[in-house]
Amino acid sequence: MSATVAIARGLEDVIFTESSLCFIDGDQGRLYYAGYKIQDLAEYSTFEEVTYLLLHGHLPNKAELKAFSARLASLRALPASIIKQIKQFPRDAHPMSMLRTAVSELGMVDPTESDVSPEALYEKSLSLIAKFATIVAATKRHREGQKILAPRKGLSHAANFLYMSTGKVPSKEETKLMDVALILQAEHGFNASTFTAIATYSTQADIYSSIVAAVGALKGPRHGGANEAVMKMIAEIGAPENVSAWLADLQAKKGRVMGMGHRVYKSYDPRAGVLDKYAGAVAAKQGYSKEYAILKELERQAGAIYNPKGIYPNVDFYSGVVYSDLGYPLEFFTPIFAVARISGWCAHILEYTKLDNRLLRPDSHYTGKLDLPYKPLSKR
Ligand code: ACO
Repeated sequence: MSATVAIARGLEDVIFTESSLCFIDGDQGRLYYAGYKIQDLAEYSTFEEVTYLLLHGHLPNKAELKAFSARLASLRALPASIIKQIKQFPRDAHPMSMLRTAVSELGMVDPTESDVSPEALYEKSLSLIAKFATIVAATKRHREGQKILAPRKGLSHAANFLYMSTGKVPSKEETKLMDVALILQAEHGFNASTFTAIATYSTQADIYSSIVAAVGALKGPRHGGANEAVMKMIAEIGAPENVSAWLADLQAKKGRVMGMGHRVYKSYDPRAGVLDKYAGAVAAKQGYSKEYAILKELERQAGAIYNPKGIYPNVDFYSGVVYSDLGYPLEFFTPIFAVARISGWCAHILEYTKLDNRLLRPDSHYTGKLDLPYKPLSKR
């Protein structure tokens, strides 16, 4: 066997398809969705507008947005059988496991689960985008032993998600904060979960199976689970004055600062900048939380060590603090990420299908033996 085969470990720098959904400039820390700067989308648009942009390739006009928002609203409620199932989930199960199971059940109760026509695919995408927020909110209420709430008419996607999660109609500021968080996490090219969704869909499996696979990939601490890991890290550090000793210990153990580093960004993740701005605004209004103070100190001290190696805060560095500000416990940070990323997953599946939905099937360099003499079991 030749030992000179070039192996793309972790599929790094492998370009396997075209896409017009997302442009990431990892060196300069720039991110665009369908041509628009992430900072502009976060500042001026809503989750509905960004989702429309990802699914249609252009920003909606007023009439298009109204119709699209109404369509999402009409798909938001869960079938009674799913609510019944959620009520039977063990209360202490992780909400990502609950989400994964509920999405799988949604597929099972859809009599047209296997319909992969473009029209059905678009409709199922809208339904999943609308229902993800409802499922996650329902699992939060179930874990807290509270009544599961139906969606409320007249509220936007972000506001409805907050309402169904907390039972309170959110303020304008809270809705804006949730919109920003959802917009920032809605899409990010071929990260592990999106790639997983496409790999599954390329087998001509149904969209539910693809999204279940994506939810599974998002759960890991090197991907969507990092925001939860950040909050655990903050608790471990305990106070801003402990950062220095904690970092020295981490370096000695060759550990990783959660919420820092990225396969693509070798400079500041622009999403972290936007979230820091909003987390900072909340802190200025409500008083600086210990968590925010620890992160600021960690960013300063860890930055001095790791920035020269191209390791900077990523989106998850500040997202947990924002979700905390909005009243979500730790276990819900990754599910909130999923409520956002469902738009990107569906947009990529639709785009890849329009292209050719070519089966993904990479290869490996074989390093094992060949032609071994086969011994019957009795002689081994
Ligand atoms: N803290 C300290 N060192 C780090 C960190 C970090 N957060 N991230 C990478 N490094 C170091 C590694 O130890 C390694 O050092 P070495 O070459 O001396 O062994 C080097 O940088 C390269 O690391 P890789 O894991 O090969 O780089 P990769 O591109 O795969 O890293 C990853 C990307 C997995 C995200 C990594 O930075 C990490 O584990 N970060 C912490 C978890 C995290 O925040 N994940 C969220 C990512 S964003 C998202 O999914 C939304």
